[in-house]
This record gives sequence, C-alpha cells and structure tokens, in this order.
Amino acid sequence: MKITVIGMGYVGLVTACGLASFGHQVLGVEKNHSKLKKLMQFESPIYEQGLDELLNKAAAEGDIQFTTELNGADGSDLIFITVGTPSTNSGHVDLSQVYTVINQLVHIITKPTILVMKSTVPPGTGEKIIRRFLNKCKTEVNYISNPEFLREGKALLDWFYPDRIVIGGKDNDSIQQVKNIYKKINAPKLVMGITSAEMVKYASNAFLATKISFINEIANICDLLGADIDEVAPAVGMDKRIGSDFLRAGLGYGGSCFPKDTKGLNFISTLHGYNFNLLKAVIEVNFQQRLKAVHKLHTMLGGLAGKKIAVMGLTFKPGTDDVRESPALDILSLLASEGAVVKACDPHGKDNAFKYFSRKIIFCEDAYECAKGVQAVLLNTEWPQFIHLNWSIIKQTMQTPYFVYDGRNALDKKRLSKLGFKYCGVGRPCN
Ligand SMILES: NC(=O)c1ccc[n+]([C@@H]2O[C@H](COP(=O)([O-])OP(=O)(O)OC[C@H]3O[C@@H](n4cnc5c(N)ncnc54)[C@H](O)[C@@H]3O)[C@@H](O)[C@H]2O)c1
Repeated sequence: MKITVIGMGYVGLVTACGLASFGHQVLGVEKNHSKLKKLMQFESPIYEQGLDELLNKAAAEGDIQFTTELNGADGSDLIFITVGTPSTNSGHVDLSQVYTVINQLVHIITKPTILVMKSTVPPGTGEKIIRRFLNKCKTEVNYISNPEFLREGKALLDWFYPDRIVIGGKDNDSIQQVKNIYKKINAPKLVMGITSAEMVKYASNAFLATKISFINEIANICDLLGADIDEVAPAVGMDKRIGSDFLRAGLGYGGSCFPKDTKGLNFISTLHGYNFNLLKAVIEVNFQQRLKAVHKLHTMLGGLAGKKIAVMGLTFKPGTDDVRESPALDILSLLASEGAVVKACDPHGKDNAFKYFSRKIIFCEDAYECAKGVQAVLLNTEWPQFIHLNWSIIKQTMQTPYFVYDGRNALDKKRLSKLGFKYCGVGRPCN
C-alpha cells in the first residue's frame, strides 16, 4: 500500500517506520525544517529506543521517504494524520494543526483515499470533519478514527504489540483496508462508530490518570497516618479487579497526553452541560502533587531562598526526551521563583527543558555535577542512571542537611539512610 503519514513527531514517526517495516511504501510529511533535515539523513529527531535502527532499516529497504510537501499525499491509498493536538489553558483542544492539514488536503487529493485520524481529537471531531471538509472533496475520501495508545519510552513495543487496535468508521471497505494494513499485528481489532473510537482514547487516558491521582491521594494519607505506600499499593494491586499497573505513587502524571486529554475531556463535558466532578478532582490532585514536593523541600530546608537544590530528571518519564508537562517544569519554576539556586540534569531531556528556562536554571552534564554543593536533591524522573548512582560520592559533595526527596519512590531508602541522607518519598515515611 502507498501510505502518507503527516506529522513526524512521537506518534507519526513511529507509525511511519512501523508501517514501512510491514513493506508499505511510506511518505512521511513534516513541516518543521530542522526535524526534516535530520529525517532526510534517516536520523530520528526524537529519542525513542530502537527508532533509529527501525528508520535505517526502512530507509535501506527503500520503504520510507520524507518531504515537507503535502502534495505528495495525492495518490496514497491511506493518509494518516499524526499532527499535534495541544490544549489551551482552558483545556480546550487546539485542533488548528489538524484543520490546517485537512483544509489543504481537500484541495490536493484527486484520487479516492482513506483519511486515518491517529491524532487524539475530542469525541465528535471526526463527524465535524466529514461535514465541514470531506464532503467538499472532488473525490471520495472516507474517514477512519484510529486512535493511538503508545507510551513514549516504550513506543515501538506498544506499536507492534498493542492491547487492541480501535477502528472507528462508517465505510466497510475502508474499515477492512485499515484492518489489512495491521494484519501482521496480533491484537484484537475493534470496529465501532467514529465518535465511540474517539471516546475510547479519552476514556482510557482519563482512567489511567485517575488511577495515578488515586494512589497519590492514598500515599498522601499514608504520610499522615504512618502507613507505607510501598506496602499498601502492591497489596491493593494484587486484586485482579484493580490490577497493579499505574499504582505507583509519585509526583503525578505529565507528558503530552494525560494532562491535555484529561483537561480536554473535562472541557468537552462542560461544553455539553456535564459536570465531570471526578475528572476535575483527578486534575487538581495531579497539580497538588507537584506543589507538595516544593512544600516538602521548603519544610526540610527551612525555606527556599538562597538554598541550593538539584533536580534530577527533567523528562516526564524515563526513556524519552519529552519534557512536555513534566512535573519538573512547574517544580523548577516554583523553586527558582522562591529564590532557590536550582541545578538540573537529565540524560536526554536537557535540550528540550532548556527552551523553557534558559538562564534561570543551571543545567549540568551529569548527576554528580548536579549534586555538587547542594543541600537537597529532588528525583523527578526515575532514569536508571539516577537510581544506580554512587550515592556515597554524591553525599561527599553535598551540604547539610543532605536531603533527598524521592519524587518517584525509586531510590533505595535503606541505603540512603545508612549513608546519612535525610530521605523522604511519596507516602514512604521519612527516616
Ligand atoms: N506522544 C504520545 O505519547 C502520544 C500517544 C498517543 C497519542 N498521541 C497523540 O498523537 C498526536 C501527535 O502527538 P505527538 O506527541 O506525536 O506530537 P508531536 O508534537 O511530537 O508531533 C507532531 C508533528 O506534526 C508536525 N506538524 C504539524 N503540522 C504539520 C503540517 N501541517 N504538516 C506536516 N507536519 C506537521 C509538527 O511539526 C510535529 O513534528 C497528538 O494528538 C497526541 O495527543 C500522542
């Protein structure tokens, strides 16, 4: 099949490489020139394990090409849209990237094709797109909603081995064709209406975010009552009705999906006259969790002004260079605005984080340099590099009170206590 994928970001590039690896002829369209420059050299502009190798293999076999020109989409059997759908402050989803692409495609497409929406768009968007745009096409364009569920850091694994593939559409032939392109993937292919498919994505993310905020609330109560979340959460998760995933207390969720999709679902619910109280609480709890970390540092250091603090980890999770909505961004900004001297490090997220802060934060090459001379370390991202640090060296270069706030409950509390650190985790009692 001849396939065009528009938007070579985290979802688009993985999708393009995945489809090319199945032998499809893929054209990747990207408007950002610096990203395109790298792609033309078959170099991934994002960090995702295994992606460079997959891209190189597809390139060597002649199955993938890149361009900035949308015109190349004409003549494709399928056109995938994977552009960004960021949220505005109100939570309203900004669909301008999607609409810009479709508006252009309407004038470009001259041969029948299938438009596959992989970007996350609010329930009801597909129907709107059909009414507002596709009905104006000179040729037959069928619309399919095919939301993506991959996790950054495990994107290839999730793309090739998903739990399910959701296909929302009206035209049976188009649904069958989309099923066919995924025929090498052994996962249930669930066919449904377009709006339902869109809702599956939002409901899934809202539910996972709810689990995270829920366990964070339990961890906060553990802190007050002297219980230990490390003992509580695994026992709760062993109940098959609950499941152990996403029951890890910490600084809360971040990234380009959960924050915007929870806010987006809340916004669209409000717009339709529904007060989604549970989701509002999930969002609020997630924000409070970041403030709690700053509050803890304030208490343990006796104020923040002039205090030297190292933040280890800038990305919203390990395995990615993505810092969008990472708790670290709010935490760094709050600490700096309270007058703390803030140092930060990350194996892959430094360049992206730098764009937000420039000179306000001291960005360090590694964790040892970052911890030098500070009174406290905050672990924001549980990169293996940080977990396996030589903490005894770190201790020698730090200053009293040698405070470690383990925002991901990932460090060895016993060992750190033995080395003389003052340690607190999230729902893990301080030593
Ligand atoms: N990142 C994830 O983990 C993830 C997972 C599942 C779903 N999603 C959804 O997938 C969509 C894409 O997310 P992402 O993280 O890959 O976004 P991204 O910002 O990393 O990538 C989007 C890309 O589209 C490009 N683009 C925008 N307009 C364009 C145009 N007119 N022509 C060509 N390129 C254009 C941008 O330059 C950018 O490179 C979003 O709706 C997101 O919610 C993301």
